[in-house]
Amino acid sequence: MRICILGATGLVGRETIELVARAWPGAELALYASRDQELELGGRRYPVLAAAKLAESGAPKGDVAFVALDDEHSKRYVPRLLELGYRVVDKSNTYRADPKVPLVAAGVNSRRVDASVRLVANPNCTTIPLALALQPLHAVYTLTSITASTYQAVSGAGIAALDGFLEASKAGYAQPDRLGAPFDVKAYAGNVVPHNGGTDESGYSSEERKLMFESRKILELGELPVSAQCCRVAVAVGHYENLWVSFQQPVDMDRIGALLGSAEAAPFLRYFPGASGDGLSALSSVQDRDRALVGRLRPDARDPSRRSICLTVVGDNLRLGAATNAVRVASRWFPSADRELQS
Ligand SMILES: NC(=O)c1ccc[n+]([C@@H]2O[C@H](COP(=O)([O-])OP(=O)(O)OC[C@H]3O[C@@H](n4cnc5c(N)ncnc54)[C@H](OP(=O)(O)O)[C@@H]3O)[C@@H](O)[C@H]2O)c1
Repeated sequence: MRICILGATGLVGRETIELVARAWPGAELALYASRDQELELGGRRYPVLAAAKLAESGAPKGDVAFVALDDEHSKRYVPRLLELGYRVVDKSNTYRADPKVPLVAAGVNSRRVDASVRLVANPNCTTIPLALALQPLHAVYTLTSITASTYQAVSGAGIAALDGFLEASKAGYAQPDRLGAPFDVKAYAGNVVPHNGGTDESGYSSEERKLMFESRKILELGELPVSAQCCRVAVAVGHYENLWVSFQQPVDMDRIGALLGSAEAAPFLRYFPGASGDGLSALSSVQDRDRALVGRLRPDARDPSRRSICLTVVGDNLRLGAATNAVRVASRWFPSADRELQS
């Protein structure tokens, strides 16, 4: 088996290398990034080639390609990988809205990936934990609306943003100031900022539109009312999301807790019982990287008909929200040796 990873030197690419070794030990690995280089990871050195070499006539064929590039470069390389015979999982936004391309959150709609499928789009890192938590509840009570408020880690913006954030945090917190005055008011360190890139005439940013569109596509509820407000918080890894969710029927809170706690009904989920959310935090997802963490479950006090609940969902954006999902998608084509990574 020959596996290719594009963007191998980036945050998601590095995680993918480690997961691929768990899922398909012994597979031949071909790594690509912007230029020829060597990558040191987990005490090993990997040769990395310039992705432009894939355009050459003698570029090797292979079985599965994981693409962890920005939209522009995905658009450039995905068609070439398909031409070379790879089955492709693309982690960018490029193909998510394409009706011909399945958008798959493993454990929610993995059935969309069969032998006839050559290209799958990986959802956004906030959509995956949301879909994992809500699909089992939708199956019983039928969703009628979702409101989401997200608190997203800086690593979601890539390796350069994360490294800049770590440096600025170190420098800012080194200065004794109780107001946070040493920090840049527009930057991530010591701060909470709107995730407002790509805000259009609707008033929603591109991150917010992704969460809204993708949850409808994955849950196959094209008309579902969904609204989101997204922020970036001064956290390295781990996206935290507060959700307000309504259903067609009144819900039984014990049954909801039982559904969220059932590995069969709710795969790749860890449920924290109790309304207080003890143990649930952005960083707790970095200790449990391949599951969505769910808790703070309680009735929404605004709804006397008991059709609405509040809950919190957390996921490691680099793993559950990106690399792990992609590997689980590919496990539908090539079964994984590691059962945790099989969907
Ligand atoms: N970070 C997350 O939490 C997350 C979650 C879900 C989805 N995603 C998506 O996954 C993709 C990768 O994100 P990331 O956070 O891993 O980004 P990143 O850390 O910034 O890494 C970007 C990768 O792209 C490579 N690259 C840059 N320019 C290139 C070029 N001209 N040709 C070929 N390769 C090039 C870089 O290689 P060099 O090292 O050589 O520059 C690096 O390997 C993005 O589409 C992102 O939206 C990210």
